[in-house]
Amino acid sequence: MKRDIRGELSGILPDDLVPLVPRSFDVIGSKGRAVAVIEVSTELESYGQVIGEALMRVQRNVQSVLSKGTERMGEFRVRDMKLLAGDADTEVLHRESGCVFKADPAKVYFSPRESTEREKVSSKVRPDERVLVMFSGVGPFAICIAKKQPTAYCVAVELNPDGHSYCLENIRLNKLGDRVRAVQGDVREVCPALGEVFDRVLMPLPKGAYEFLDVAIPMVKPSGVLHFYHWAPRDDPFSEGERILHDAAGEFGRAVEILERVRVSQYSPSAWKIRIDAKIS
Ligand SMILES: C[S@@+](CC[C@H](N)C(=O)[O-])C[C@H]1O[C@@H](n2cnc3c(N)ncnc32)[C@H](O)[C@@H]1O
Repeated sequence: MKRDIRGELSGILPDDLVPLVPRSFDVIGSKGRAVAVIEVSTELESYGQVIGEALMRVQRNVQSVLSKGTERMGEFRVRDMKLLAGDADTEVLHRESGCVFKADPAKVYFSPRESTEREKVSSKVRPDERVLVMFSGVGPFAICIAKKQPTAYCVAVELNPDGHSYCLENIRLNKLGDRVRAVQGDVREVCPALGEVFDRVLMPLPKGAYEFLDVAIPMVKPSGVLHFYHWAPRDDPFSEGERILHDAAGEFGRAVEILERVRVSQYSPSAWKIRIDAKIS
């Protein structure tokens, strides 16, 4: 049975601090080598190394422990993380749903918690669809879609040069070179220059996707589908997103038919990350 990190730290940390150690943390990687990302509150900061070492003892595949540090920042949505213990090389191979992703969580956005969401969206893709993944990161949506739907073709657009490099590597690792194309750059410049429209467009940037709807809407084929992500208030999660979608599509004389409204995950006590799937006619 896996030991509990608080149990491991009792007798090492002052008794009153042990309950402040989070019981759960993200683990990115494989059985052989993984990185853990844990939230360390201010009270625990001076015990960072002790906590990191304890975590590596309870979870033996973890070779490096990073503290979450800041919130996700800037355009790349990366935290300023701090190495608490272990190997300073934090690049790992993560396996999910028959795919493998290489990523360094200190340099790029990658969340193992979103595997179910990737599965859900991938399962909607029909044979022969051409799919545009805006804000594609290291490529998990595009790769998951191409693996699950063997006749689909994906274009993945990412601004962060490290995210793009990992995406290229992940396309190679998953042997999808003929069905996933990665393009580095700002969606605002890259997408209009692609010279095609798509059956399906994904916008997995909950913080600010709405600012790029003027780019995304024209990329959707008539009657194609848009997957729009948004941060929304808990008590009324869909009204604002739907209004924004209708307004943005209206600018192009396009109509919106809502297909599905999904609460993806809780972002904070008052906010949810949501997805609205819409047919853009
Ligand atoms: C929330 S992350 C999601 C990454 C990926 N889709 C995933 O699920 O792991 C959003 C990504 O959008 C990228 N990004 C932000 N602004 C962008 C822009 N204007 N053009 C292209 N990519 C952008 C960031 O660098 C980041 O990797």
